[in-house]
Amino acid sequence: MEPLKENIIKEYSARVEIENESERDRDLRVHIPRKWIQKYIQPRDEVLDAGGGTGLNAMMMATLCRQVFLMDLTPAILAKAKENIAHTANISLSLGDVQNIPFSSETFHLTVCLGDAISYVLDRRKQAFDELVRVTRQNGILIIGCNSKYGFIRRKLAENDVTGALEIYRTSQARCVMGPKTHLYTVAEGHRYLQERGCRILSTSSTLTFVDSDKDIPDNEWEELISHELAHSREAEWLGGEHLIFIARKM
Ligand SMILES: C[S@@+](CC[C@H](N)C(=O)[O-])C[C@H]1O[C@@H](n2cnc3c(N)ncnc32)[C@H](O)[C@@H]1O
Repeated sequence: MEPLKENIIKEYSARVEIENESERDRDLRVHIPRKWIQKYIQPRDEVLDAGGGTGLNAMMMATLCRQVFLMDLTPAILAKAKENIAHTANISLSLGDVQNIPFSSETFHLTVCLGDAISYVLDRRKQAFDELVRVTRQNGILIIGCNSKYGFIRRKLAENDVTGALEIYRTSQARCVMGPKTHLYTVAEGHRYLQERGCRILSTSSTLTFVDSDKDIPDNEWEELISHELAHSREAEWLGGEHLIFIARKM
C-alpha cells in the first residue's frame, strides 16, 4: 500500500472515538456543510458520502433521501460507522478510496465529500476530483469540503508563527490538527478543478469565519452564530475561514 494511504489509515484508526465525538460535536466545520446538504438533498436521491467517517452525516442524510452509500478508507472508522447505523435501513457501507471510487459512472444524484479527504490526497487531488465528478449523474450536485490555504495562513499569523505562515504560502501544505499532511486549496483552484470537469459552481462558502473556536459559546449565542455564519459564509470577504465548501452541478 502507498505510504500516504497507510499513514492516513494509521492516524484515523488511532482516533476512532475522537472522530466519532467530533462528528457529534458542536462544531461549525461539521454544522455548516450539514446545512448546505439539507438545502440540496432531495427525497429521490441516491447519495455518495465519500470519506464519510463514523456516519453522522450519513444518518442525517438517510432521513432525507432514498439511499446513502458511505465509503471510507479506514476499516476501523467503518466498523464504528457500522455500529452507529445499526438501526438505519437505507445506508450501505463500503471500503474505498476517493482516488479510485468503487462505483460505476453517473450513479449518484448527490456526491458529498466533507472533512477533507480531498485535501489528504495531496498531489493526487486531480484524480480524486475526476472520480467524484465521474460517479455523479448529469445534473447531479457535488458538495466538497477542503482545507483553505488563506485560512491556514491566517491561523499561523494569529499564533505569531510567521515562519509557518510563509512555509504554507510557498508549499500549499500543512499538517492538520488530526495529524495527516493536507493540501490547502484556494477558491480559484477548487473552482478550476470542478469547471475543467464540466461542473458549474453554484455556491462557495467558508467556515470558521466569524469565530476560530466555537466550543465555549452558550446555547442561545451558538444558534445566532450559526445563523450569521450561514448568512455570510458565501460573501467574498468571508471566504478566508479554514474550511472551504464548494457546491457545484455536473452539467
Ligand atoms: C475528518 S473525517 C470526516 C468525516 C465526515 N465526512 C465529516 O465531515 O464529519 C475524514 C474521513 O476521511 C477518510 N479519508 C481520508 N482519506 C480518504 C480517502 N483517500 N478516501 C476515502 N476516505 C478517506 C478518513 O478515514 C476519515 O474517516
